[in-house]
Amino acid sequence: MRIATLTSGGDCPGLNAVIRSVVRTSSAEYGSTVVGYEDGWVGLLEDRRVQLYDDEGIDRLLIRGGTILGTGRMKTEVFKEGIDRIKENLADANIDALIPIGGEGTLKGAKFLADNGVPVVGVPKTIDNDVNNTDYTFGFDTAVAVATDAVDRLHTTAESHNRVMIVEVMGRHVGWIALHSGMAGGAHYIVIPEEPFDINEIVKSMERRFQMGEKYGIIVVAEGAKPKDGTMELEDRGTDVFGHKIFAGIGEMIGKEFTRRTDYDVRTTVLGHIQRGGTPTAFDRVLATRYGVHATRAVHEGDFGSAVALQSGEVVRIPLSEAVGQLKTVPPGRYRTAKALFG
Ligand code: F6P
Repeated sequence: MRIATLTSGGDCPGLNAVIRSVVRTSSAEYGSTVVGYEDGWVGLLEDRRVQLYDDEGIDRLLIRGGTILGTGRMKTEVFKEGIDRIKENLADANIDALIPIGGEGTLKGAKFLADNGVPVVGVPKTIDNDVNNTDYTFGFDTAVAVATDAVDRLHTTAESHNRVMIVEVMGRHVGWIALHSGMAGGAHYIVIPEEPFDINEIVKSMERRFQMGEKYGIIVVAEGAKPKDGTMELEDRGTDVFGHKIFAGIGEMIGKEFTRRTDYDVRTTVLGHIQRGGTPTAFDRVLATRYGVHATRAVHEGDFGSAVALQSGEVVRIPLSEAVGQLKTVPPGRYRTAKALFG
């Protein structure tokens, strides 16, 4: 077979490990070859592709962050209008199957192609860990490790200066990174998009902490966190060209509210893309590798219109329709568990 792969949406540690895994499995188990389209769906539409060889170079990809193919985003209308061109490009390049690697948006694109007769098997990725029906996506563990390290480091400087430290982490719709890094780092309060926050409650929680003799506090906030209606004004900065909400810096806003209401010395740290860069953790390397092997096998068994997923520790195949349409949010019970340790 001749297989094509591409990486689309925000990058994340482990993408290269999937590419390596697809190339090696295709070659070693099936004698198949693999090409990569550059810069996500854009490269497929513009027919920009590179041959990927099962050589030393591909082996070195295991530990390399980012994606050697490049990634990108594309407006849904442009993508849908380009369906005939995409089909032509795949046919002209003699591609038998496509393995797109991406998050919810990419998998929706994959489903659209599958519904239009393109042989596709999707691989879920995102540091946000919000793809439905899979326990984990690779990239998440690395992001949590980076954010936890940051929280660990902020403890000592916060304590030295008797400060309230606010750490803003990624998570546009879901709070998995905030929840896990906050729990692992022993944060004193965690704010996630799924649970609209009350600024009064957060301030009171810090006050209780200081009254009990503690000298500092750490608050981890997901970038997509929202206040309860009527409790705090938020700046609305609209959406970007892809329709994604532009965040106005929720960590900084919570910090300002603290300064307005209390005498605490407050500092905010925004981790941003540091969480997405660099080498993947061992967990993410293994998960990415397993996804690559299983996606390649699914392709060779003709199981198109599916995506690989991790369920109860096993890599399984699910219909693409089950991976999209709904995000995997933090269940209320998981937040309540974390809350038991606040303060
Ligand atoms: O990969 C998902 C994500 O990390 C979100 O949490 C974040 O809001 C977004 O990507 C930012 O991506 P970019 O800056 O590349 O648009």
